[in-house]
Amino acid sequence: MFSKELQDAFNEQMKNEFFSAYLYMAISGYFEAEDLPGFASWMRVQALEEMTHGEKFFHFLCEAGGRTNLLPIEGPKNDFKTPLEAFEFSLNHEQFVTAEINKLMDLANKDNNHAAKIFLQWFVTEQVEEEASFGLILKQLKRVEGDGRGLIMLDQELGQRVFTPPAAA
Ligand code: FEO
Repeated sequence: MFSKELQDAFNEQMKNEFFSAYLYMAISGYFEAEDLPGFASWMRVQALEEMTHGEKFFHFLCEAGGRTNLLPIEGPKNDFKTPLEAFEFSLNHEQFVTAEINKLMDLANKDNNHAAKIFLQWFVTEQVEEEASFGLILKQLKRVEGDGRGLIMLDQELGQRVFTPPAAA
Protein backbone atom coordinates (compact mmCIF):
# COMPACT_ATOMS: atom_id res chain seq x y z
CA MET A 1 0.00 0.00 0.00
CA PHE A 2 1.18 3.50 -0.77
CA SER A 3 1.60 6.18 1.85
CA LYS A 4 0.22 9.52 0.66
CA GLU A 5 3.77 10.89 0.51
CA LEU A 6 5.05 8.00 -1.62
CA GLN A 7 2.01 8.07 -3.91
CA ASP A 8 2.47 11.81 -4.50
CA ALA A 9 6.16 11.27 -5.22
CA PHE A 10 5.35 8.47 -7.69
CA ASN A 11 2.91 10.74 -9.51
CA GLU A 12 5.53 13.48 -9.60
CA GLN A 13 8.06 11.08 -11.09
CA MET A 14 5.51 9.86 -13.66
CA LYS A 15 5.25 13.50 -14.72
CA ASN A 16 9.06 13.82 -14.87
CA GLU A 17 9.23 10.83 -17.21
CA PHE A 18 6.50 12.15 -19.52
CA PHE A 19 8.16 15.58 -19.38
CA SER A 20 11.41 13.91 -20.48
CA ALA A 21 9.61 12.61 -23.58
CA TYR A 22 8.35 16.12 -24.29
CA LEU A 23 11.82 17.61 -23.79
CA TYR A 24 13.54 15.11 -26.08
CA MET A 25 10.93 15.68 -28.80
CA ALA A 26 11.69 19.41 -28.51
CA ILE A 27 15.41 18.68 -28.82
CA SER A 28 14.69 16.44 -31.80
CA GLY A 29 12.97 19.41 -33.42
CA TYR A 30 16.06 21.53 -32.78
CA PHE A 31 18.25 18.92 -34.51
CA GLU A 32 15.83 18.70 -37.45
CA ALA A 33 16.14 22.48 -37.86
CA GLU A 34 19.94 22.11 -37.77
CA ASP A 35 19.85 19.52 -40.61
CA LEU A 36 21.14 16.77 -38.36
CA PRO A 37 18.57 14.00 -39.01
CA GLY A 38 20.56 11.30 -37.19
CA PHE A 39 20.67 13.31 -33.95
CA ALA A 40 16.98 14.14 -34.43
CA SER A 41 16.09 10.48 -34.86
CA TRP A 42 18.18 9.45 -31.81
CA MET A 43 16.28 11.98 -29.69
CA ARG A 44 12.90 10.72 -30.96
CA VAL A 45 13.86 7.18 -29.98
CA GLN A 46 14.81 8.58 -26.56
CA ALA A 47 11.43 10.33 -26.33
CA LEU A 48 9.65 7.02 -27.07
CA GLU A 49 11.69 5.34 -24.33
CA GLU A 50 10.69 8.05 -21.87
CA MET A 51 7.02 7.44 -22.72
CA THR A 52 7.49 3.81 -21.71
CA HIS A 53 9.11 4.96 -18.44
CA GLY A 54 6.09 7.16 -17.66
CA GLU A 55 3.79 4.28 -18.54
CA LYS A 56 5.68 1.99 -16.13
CA PHE A 57 4.90 4.40 -13.28
CA PHE A 58 1.27 4.60 -14.39
CA HIS A 59 0.94 0.82 -14.50
CA PHE A 60 2.65 0.28 -11.15
CA LEU A 61 0.50 2.89 -9.42
CA CYS A 62 -2.66 1.17 -10.73
CA GLU A 63 -1.50 -2.33 -9.96
CA ALA A 64 -0.06 -1.66 -6.51
CA GLY A 65 -3.16 0.00 -5.10
CA GLY A 66 -2.16 3.61 -5.70
CA ARG A 67 -4.10 6.39 -7.42
CA THR A 68 -2.81 8.05 -10.56
CA ASN A 69 -2.76 11.83 -10.72
CA LEU A 70 -1.58 13.22 -14.05
CA LEU A 71 0.07 16.54 -13.27
CA PRO A 72 0.50 19.50 -15.64
CA ILE A 73 3.60 19.35 -17.82
CA GLU A 74 5.58 22.54 -18.30
CA GLY A 75 6.93 23.62 -21.69
CA PRO A 76 10.43 22.33 -22.52
CA LYS A 77 13.40 24.28 -23.84
CA ASN A 78 13.22 24.27 -27.65
CA ASP A 79 16.31 26.20 -28.70
CA PHE A 80 19.99 25.59 -28.21
CA LYS A 81 23.10 27.35 -29.44
CA THR A 82 24.92 24.18 -30.47
CA PRO A 83 24.46 20.37 -30.47
CA LEU A 84 26.92 20.35 -27.57
CA GLU A 85 24.66 22.63 -25.54
CA ALA A 86 21.66 20.39 -26.32
CA PHE A 87 23.52 17.34 -24.97
CA GLU A 88 24.84 19.20 -21.93
CA PHE A 89 21.27 20.22 -21.18
CA SER A 90 20.06 16.63 -21.67
CA LEU A 91 22.74 15.15 -19.42
CA ASN A 92 21.89 17.68 -16.70
CA HIS A 93 18.26 16.65 -17.04
CA GLU A 94 19.16 12.97 -16.68
CA GLN A 95 21.22 13.79 -13.57
CA PHE A 96 18.14 15.51 -12.15
CA VAL A 97 16.03 12.40 -12.93
CA THR A 98 18.62 10.15 -11.24
CA ALA A 99 18.51 12.32 -8.11
CA GLU A 100 14.69 12.11 -8.11
CA ILE A 101 14.73 8.31 -8.49
CA ASN A 102 17.21 8.08 -5.60
CA LYS A 103 14.94 10.25 -3.43
CA LEU A 104 12.00 7.99 -4.33
CA MET A 105 14.02 4.94 -3.32
CA ASP A 106 14.84 6.61 0.02
CA LEU A 107 11.14 7.24 0.55
CA ALA A 108 10.20 3.64 -0.36
CA ASN A 109 12.85 2.46 2.11
CA LYS A 110 11.50 4.72 4.84
CA ASP A 111 7.99 3.33 4.19
CA ASN A 112 9.29 -0.25 4.08
CA ASN A 113 7.43 -0.58 0.77
CA HIS A 114 9.18 -3.63 -0.69
CA ALA A 115 7.15 -3.70 -3.92
CA ALA A 116 8.03 -0.07 -4.63
CA LYS A 117 11.70 -0.75 -3.89
CA ILE A 118 11.81 -3.66 -6.35
CA PHE A 119 9.99 -1.57 -8.97
CA LEU A 120 12.40 1.34 -8.50
CA GLN A 121 15.44 -0.90 -8.76
CA TRP A 122 14.87 -1.10 -12.55
CA PHE A 123 15.01 2.71 -12.73
CA VAL A 124 18.16 2.93 -10.61
CA THR A 125 19.91 0.66 -13.14
CA GLU A 126 18.32 2.42 -16.11
CA GLN A 127 19.60 5.81 -14.93
CA VAL A 128 23.19 4.51 -14.88
CA GLU A 129 22.69 3.52 -18.53
CA GLU A 130 20.98 6.79 -19.46
CA GLU A 131 23.71 8.98 -17.96
CA ALA A 132 26.37 6.84 -19.64
CA SER A 133 24.82 7.10 -23.10
CA PHE A 134 24.21 10.86 -22.92
CA GLY A 135 27.67 11.33 -21.39
CA LEU A 136 29.37 9.36 -24.17
CA ILE A 137 27.72 11.39 -26.94
CA LEU A 138 28.63 14.59 -25.09
CA LYS A 139 32.30 13.52 -25.01
CA GLN A 140 32.18 12.64 -28.72
CA LEU A 141 30.66 16.04 -29.50
CA LYS A 142 33.48 17.74 -27.58
CA ARG A 143 35.99 15.75 -29.62
CA VAL A 144 34.50 16.77 -32.98
CA GLU A 145 33.96 20.42 -32.04
CA GLY A 146 34.66 22.62 -35.09
CA ASP A 147 35.00 19.56 -37.34
CA GLY A 148 31.97 19.49 -39.67
CA ARG A 149 32.95 16.15 -41.17
CA GLY A 150 33.20 14.55 -37.73
CA LEU A 151 29.78 15.93 -36.82
CA ILE A 152 28.22 14.44 -39.97
CA MET A 153 29.80 11.06 -39.23
CA LEU A 154 28.45 11.16 -35.69
CA ASP A 155 25.04 12.11 -37.09
CA GLN A 156 25.07 9.06 -39.35
CA GLU A 157 26.05 6.81 -36.46
CA LEU A 158 23.33 8.14 -34.14
CA GLY A 159 20.74 7.70 -36.89
CA GLN A 160 21.18 3.91 -36.57
CA ARG A 161 19.51 3.80 -33.16
CA VAL A 162 16.14 2.02 -33.21
CA PHE A 163 13.39 1.95 -30.64
CA THR A 164 12.98 -1.38 -28.89
CA PRO A 165 9.84 -1.58 -26.79
CA PRO A 166 10.60 -2.95 -23.30
CA ALA A 167 9.51 -6.48 -22.47
CA ALA A 168 6.05 -6.65 -20.91
CA ALA A 169 6.20 -6.30 -17.13
FE1 FEO B 1 13.43 8.01 -17.91
FE2 FEO B 1 15.80 9.39 -19.12
O1 FEO B 1 14.82 9.07 -17.58
